[in-house]
Amino acid sequence: MIVETLAPDTALSSLLRTATRPQHEHAETRGFVTQLMGGALSREAYIDLATQHHAIYSALEAAGERLRGDAAAAPFLIDALVRVPSLEADLALLLGPDWRDAVDVLPATRAYIEVLDGIDTAERFVAHHYTRYLGDLSGGQIISRMLQRHYGMTPEELTFYTFTEIPKPKPFKDDYRALLDAAPFTPEQIDAVVEEAKVAFDLNAALFVDLGGRNDEDSTAA
Ligand code: HEM
Repeated sequence: MIVETLAPDTALSSLLRTATRPQHEHAETRGFVTQLMGGALSREAYIDLATQHHAIYSALEAAGERLRGDAAAAPFLIDALVRVPSLEADLALLLGPDWRDAVDVLPATRAYIEVLDGIDTAERFVAHHYTRYLGDLSGGQIISRMLQRHYGMTPEELTFYTFTEIPKPKPFKDDYRALLDAAPFTPEQIDAVVEEAKVAFDLNAALFVDLGGRNDEDSTAA
């Protein structure tokens, strides 16, 4: 009998997906997320999330600009993904022209921004880029549908989740994974990307905990 041993899949896209699965599960089951998705919260709770996202994406997209000259980071600077303008448009609609006065950045957001402001390598940037944008193109689409269903929000208020230049997420995500797999990283750098992606997920989970603290309808939920 021939026993076939399959080589472990060492492509970065596979490693990222597999290694961050527990962190994904942890993040998506925080009380704030399950309550928001289940219709137990309010438009205001989503607006709170969107204001934190604005602060976070401003720092993430600034990190990308800092690394524009880096050959490994540059292919990830994809205009169609940029989210700050859509978040600003959403917040202007949701809170009015003075929306910036209403922003109250949470401690978890401040901690997340500090990490993003410290990004100085393509490995770390790619990890944070993957965690946010591939998530927005995946679960983000479900989140947008739930916000519309439960809170009567409109697509115009949720353009954060609409990538106008990416009409079909599936082929884009396939190309994105090919980009990850073609990145010129050494095995050590690949390990660094995977480790940083776990950090990125944990920062998102911590944000949900903070958001839960000030938006919780049921004080017994974590
Ligand atoms: C309500 C919460 C969430 C739901 C329902 C959700 C759902 C999903 C689903 C269904 C996929 C698989 C899509 C596919 O195979 O193409 C996915 C992938 C992904 N999600 Fe989430 N997600 C949630 C929260 C998050 C959060 C908080 C993050 C991180 C900030 C995140 C990051 C990702 C990433 C990076 C992927 C791509 C995995 C890969 O294929 O490499 N998700 N999500």
